[in-house]
Amino acid sequence: MCGIIGYIGKDQALPVLINGLRRMEYRGYDSAGVAVINDGTTAVTKRSGKIANLATALDTRPLTGHTGIGHTRWATHGAPTELNAHPHQAGHVTIVHNGIIENYVALKATLTAAGATFASDTDTEVLARLIESETKTHKSLEAAVLAALLQVEGTFGLVVLDDRHPDTVVAARRGSPLLLGLTPEATYIASDATAIIGYTDRVVYLDDDEIAVCRPGSYAVIDFEAKAKEHEEVEIKLELAAIEKSGYDHFLLKEIMEQPRTIADTLRGRLDLENGTSHLGGLNLPPDYYQTISRFLTVACGTAYYSGLLGKLFIERMTGLPVDVEVASEFRYRNPVVVTNTLGMVVSQSGETADTLASLREMKRRGISTLGLVNVVGSSVAREVDGGVYLHAGPEISVASTKAYTSQVLAQILVGLQIGRARSLSITEGKAIVQALQDLPAQVQSVLDQRDKIKAIAKKLAHLNSAMYLGRDTLFPVALEGALKLKECAYVHAEAYPAGELKHGPIALVDDNLLVVFLHPKTALYDKSQSSLEQIRARGGQLMIVGTEGDQSLTDFTDNVIYIPEANPYTLPLLANIPLQLFAYYVACERGTDVDQPRNLAKSVTVE
Ligand code: G6P
Repeated sequence: MCGIIGYIGKDQALPVLINGLRRMEYRGYDSAGVAVINDGTTAVTKRSGKIANLATALDTRPLTGHTGIGHTRWATHGAPTELNAHPHQAGHVTIVHNGIIENYVALKATLTAAGATFASDTDTEVLARLIESETKTHKSLEAAVLAALLQVEGTFGLVVLDDRHPDTVVAARRGSPLLLGLTPEATYIASDATAIIGYTDRVVYLDDDEIAVCRPGSYAVIDFEAKAKEHEEVEIKLELAAIEKSGYDHFLLKEIMEQPRTIADTLRGRLDLENGTSHLGGLNLPPDYYQTISRFLTVACGTAYYSGLLGKLFIERMTGLPVDVEVASEFRYRNPVVVTNTLGMVVSQSGETADTLASLREMKRRGISTLGLVNVVGSSVAREVDGGVYLHAGPEISVASTKAYTSQVLAQILVGLQIGRARSLSITEGKAIVQALQDLPAQVQSVLDQRDKIKAIAKKLAHLNSAMYLGRDTLFPVALEGALKLKECAYVHAEAYPAGELKHGPIALVDDNLLVVFLHPKTALYDKSQSSLEQIRARGGQLMIVGTEGDQSLTDFTDNVIYIPEANPYTLPLLANIPLQLFAYYVACERGTDVDQPRNLAKSVTVE
């Protein structure tokens, strides 16, 4: 979703801004713009569409100056036009803004009555005008910003320039992430750490309801009562290589292919084979709490939600406790029954998804302990939960989530293992799970090695416009995730059903125009699934099957068979998911979609 970059320092601002915007392209956006102060005026250039359009415009008319801001916009209020793109200006004030000003209609009416006019349809232009009007009664820019924000309802990650204060950039946060990057000569402001990698590894994360006054090489933070706040500087460990394609055509493929390493990174130092358990240092739960937990409640969105559905099946088996899994956008607005001693689990790659964050706050309001299973270090979820497990999957740039999904499931297995072993899980079973986890990177590699075969199958099936994914037990959540990948990446209509449900409706869809992806490795329910497979063949469905190595009988149904190794029930679904990731990728390439930034999608959905 929207991205913010700001710079104040000794260097030219524009290259930093453009570079930062390019680094945040992965978040999804539909227009972009920059503003730079030079000689007492702020010049703005914006374009709809890709950053390449903006960069071309700036090649012919570059902006010079040492103080500037940039923005990628994902349209909420008003179409993705150049006029609606950020930065927005009101007199001598120029701003970029992430989030939504909920009372902008009322504020606009008041400002209009006082004589203001507006060029765009955005809530952000209203905020710019409000700040500008407050500069008339407040001497410093930060005081004017504070006075304006006290009138605002909604969320904001905000950066403000004022022609008359070229040595100051003011940033403010409520509900939309912002961090400061620090060097002795410059201060960077960004909504996403990837924008400043390579410039500095010293950062300060702003908290909600804080305002930062940034100058070249220094900063000060105040709260909304104008009181000074101390902030700890932290070191971020991100390398440039992690956000580059490293020779792959797309980030999506790179991220799928690097899973043997990211799996090892998620598990590193956390497995204890001897005791058949895991060691998670960050759960922050007293050991006697494990005996008193009565249920788990997992809340997440999108792919993270599907990881929760799979995690539920594992955690229930390991701990003997019920696990509820809820879509965050639903959970936050209903009256969920949250019984005492429920352990809340929030699963999120970004740690910034608005619905997920709101659900976390609702859980905390109800007084339950919360864990965050989060990839982005220092993200809002990570900072607000009581304890948690970092995924350590590295930056995930492609909008469609792959390696983070795998690590989200693994993190849930690790939580289930630690709590399960403290409760009812036997050491024998615990050891078998640990051993399976240790074997997983090599097994995943063996599936990835079949990518050419998967590519060939994708080429054959890419023309089909509708798909149904089928699987039973732990393979049903995998089917859901596989169908989601195909929708997101290849824009192919796809749905998923438990294979046993086929006869209760979806079989009506089966003909030779329907792609049926059948997850059929050797499991306890293998024989039960066989009849569904027969029914699809009888109706001419275009089959692709994921089966277990050595199961030659599958080739009687179709040539489109991808084999995965035999595996423990806890790792088998993760192996079955790998061909589905690659399949979605290659179908997307075949259909010519924007693989890494699919239309209409955003990596991190920071608004409702
Ligand atoms: C967006 C992304 C999905 C992601 C979901 C949840 O919809 O496009 O890929 O699964 O948000 O994101 P989170 O960062 O909370 O895991």
